[in-house]
Amino acid sequence: MQTSGSNAILSLRRFVLLARRQLSASAQSAFSGSQTNAQPIPPSPDKFGDKMRGWQLHNYGDIDELQLSEKVKIPQIRSSNECLVRIRTTAVNPIDLAMLRGYGAAVLNKMRCKPGDGIEFPLILGREFCGELVQTGMGVPSDSLPLGARVWGVVPLQAGVGAHAEYVAVPSYCLAPAPKELDDSEAASVLYAGLTAWSGLYITGGLGGPCGAATSSGGGAHKRVLVLGGSGGVGSLAIQILKSQKVQVLATCSENAVEMVRNLGADFVVDYNNSESMQELCKYAPYDIVLDCSGQGGQKAAESNFDFRQYITFSSPLLANIDKQGLGLGALQNVFDLVQTNVKSFSQRGGLVKWGFFSPAPQGIQFLQKLVEQRKLMPLIDSSYEFCDLPKAFEKMKGGHLRGKIVVKV
Ligand SMILES: NC(=O)c1ccc[n+]([C@@H]2O[C@H](COP(=O)([O-])OP(=O)(O)OC[C@H]3O[C@@H](n4cnc5c(N)ncnc54)[C@H](OP(=O)(O)O)[C@@H]3O)[C@@H](O)[C@H]2O)c1
Repeated sequence: MQTSGSNAILSLRRFVLLARRQLSASAQSAFSGSQTNAQPIPPSPDKFGDKMRGWQLHNYGDIDELQLSEKVKIPQIRSSNECLVRIRTTAVNPIDLAMLRGYGAAVLNKMRCKPGDGIEFPLILGREFCGELVQTGMGVPSDSLPLGARVWGVVPLQAGVGAHAEYVAVPSYCLAPAPKELDDSEAASVLYAGLTAWSGLYITGGLGGPCGAATSSGGGAHKRVLVLGGSGGVGSLAIQILKSQKVQVLATCSENAVEMVRNLGADFVVDYNNSESMQELCKYAPYDIVLDCSGQGGQKAAESNFDFRQYITFSSPLLANIDKQGLGLGALQNVFDLVQTNVKSFSQRGGLVKWGFFSPAPQGIQFLQKLVEQRKLMPLIDSSYEFCDLPKAFEKMKGGHLRGKIVVKV
């Protein structure tokens, strides 16, 4: 396992990595005369039989419920727009830990199981990957997604077979050719958190107007956004997205991450444990958006001492309410919670509280791809694990205090 060292070393490493990749990319394109990332076409999965290795879940519970099996059936393409990918690298996100404990089961299981078959387990977690495209449905255009291409992608939440395995099948809109500027680990660590940040800012927050949500154009120049939790997977990408669009960015994080978050481009960074520093955030208010990437939730909006127009949190009670109370009562509870949070916020600060969500939108993938190619976005890797050590990666996630993403080599 490698863990990030000092912030200075981290920035230096990022710089050296970028320079090295720039050199190797230009050497490669000079040699091949092409800009594509196509790999030699890998053997079809049929040649290995129809089994793969995968981390399965047979019950909800703790990390010891994860079981490595060598005999998982390789997922099959079931519709003309699906793609089968042989995974090289994947990542562990907070949602994986939550789903391991049963989070979202009531809704996701309804979406997952066809009426009549009702089979919930075994489940394979894992929401993002980088790998090789090994099979495509008839409707997938071979010019944009050729067999053998190195791709990056995300797995919809309701899929029963996620990316903590050797193969995954996903709809073609969930993947794209992986940018050559990123190695496999970096490419496996951008899309889930990046699409969450993008969707929170552009779909939920409307930062770039209607075009910002419907296209990959971004936008939001000269707006002011406060990112709570700038040191984690979502926050560190949100800061880079915002800076690339010329948004003024303020951020909070722990004291030991302040330098690192500054290096990501944030204009002003404060330690959230220091009340005097937190007071300084009032000087920059009102914020167009406060983006909660720290897991605090909408209830905290009313407690903040600065004004904002919108407070967007990625920690909503939406699925948890339905898990606890069922679809009908849970939905009512959701309406009640959202109204209550907003009434509190309006009576204190006058801003709107909204819930933000990951969205596997192709225009979001395109947006992130452009930023990587323009070298305006680079993921932070907190730590990296081998496939057989996946439970250790979950332990690391459980321990919290992450500085970027946890990746797993398959
Ligand atoms: N709704 C969705 O679709 C969706 C999708 C993705 C993520 N999420 C949620 O969004 C949140 C962020 O995800 P992530 O992947 O970025 O998680 P993460 O990598 O664990 O990052 C969280 C970061 O917040 C910091 N932090 C903790 N408490 C804080 C506070 N009070 N103020 C400021 N920073 C604080 C943590 O570091 P220290 O503890 O060391 O300060 C850590 O660096 C999680 O709650 C996750 O569940 C939701």
